[in-house]
Amino acid sequence: MPAHINPNVFLIFQPDGVVLWDFERHSQYLLAPEYAQRLLEFAYENRAIAQDDKIDRDLQDQKILSEHPFPQSEWGWDPLARIFHVGTKDIRQDLMPTNDREWAVCHTALCIETIKQETPPFRHVPAGPIAPLPEPDFSTLSSKSLWQTLLGRRTCRQFRQEPVSLQTLSNILYASFGFLSEREAQINEFVPKYLRQRRSSPSGGGLNATEIYLFSLQVHGLDAGTYHYDPADHSLGFIRKIQDPKVLPSLLMGQYFSAELAFGIFIAGRFDRMWWKYGHSRAYRVSLLDVGHLSQTFQLASTACGLKTWLSAAFKDSEVEKLLSIASSAEQVLLFVGAGYSDGEDIDAASHRLLSQLKDELP
Ligand SMILES: Cc1cc2nc3c(=O)[nH]c(=O)nc-3n(C[C@H](O)[C@H](O)[C@H](O)COP(=O)(O)O)c2cc1C
Repeated sequence: MPAHINPNVFLIFQPDGVVLWDFERHSQYLLAPEYAQRLLEFAYENRAIAQDDKIDRDLQDQKILSEHPFPQSEWGWDPLARIFHVGTKDIRQDLMPTNDREWAVCHTALCIETIKQETPPFRHVPAGPIAPLPEPDFSTLSSKSLWQTLLGRRTCRQFRQEPVSLQTLSNILYASFGFLSEREAQINEFVPKYLRQRRSSPSGGGLNATEIYLFSLQVHGLDAGTYHYDPADHSLGFIRKIQDPKVLPSLLMGQYFSAELAFGIFIAGRFDRMWWKYGHSRAYRVSLLDVGHLSQTFQLASTACGLKTWLSAAFKDSEVEKLLSIASSAEQVLLFVGAGYSDGEDIDAASHRLLSQLKDELP
């Protein structure tokens, strides 16, 4: 009977040999050449497991080979998404606390171990020749109810191309991404000094493992261009001028209406800050979730300030990195979210015209 090979494994070629990675059981094996060779024979030659052969038996014992088909759950996407999701699911923990004291001991030990290493610092781009951000003013934000704001937020795809004031931009940046001085006094005394920054959104591990970049198109008193937002100083560090607003749609996969925005934000994950505390790739999920929280807060803050918002996860990563002068692979751009004045159209003008012509043919 031909053997079955576990479908939840992949091979990765490392300098010291071939590693077999069982991503469902979170196990890795550095294969001796004869084991790698034998697996290829099973893959190509319809071989049966020989019970008197040590290599075959080892592969069977480690559940890499079986005489019976391996159970497989349905997965609609490609293998890469499955490897990531299943590979970060049901992670084994060596010490599983069973009561409150044990949990506190485990958690505290992890925190102490972490803070022995130096934290990767936040990015700092020295501010160039730009207008400083005015002090945030929260009178407009305070006058809107949460419910009004939640109802008002919607993704729009037509904007009026009216400039936004620097004051409004400052208010939104601070409310969405600034380290809130208002919260400083509330931080627990046990939290180390360099982990005491808090935003209006939660952040995985309290690490604020994200960087914020402004793409300014139409903001009074601010050149069109890219800037890094420093959440501690509430200031902008100039990166580069943008002459042509069409640069933005070309980065955003042709979504032409993005050129009508007053400004946009690229949110980047700082994986090195995540790695500092969380060694397992499951924390990649936390990076994505961090960005989602920040994006929603930005959209609500912008809505409360009378703007409409639009967002996109579709962009040319490497080109965006160049524009933002991101040189480290430990920092990766994950989302774009923009704002501007709008009458609230959720369909872009060109699609609207096209759909009007096709009206009679639409199902
Ligand atoms: C992660 C994410 C990525 C998105 N990417 C795009 C995009 O590339 N282009 C676009 O026009 N809308 C994009 N959207 C907006 C959705 O289409 C929109 O939120 C959805 O249609 C619901 O409408 P609403 O936001 O008005 O409630 C994205 C939304 C999310 C949450």
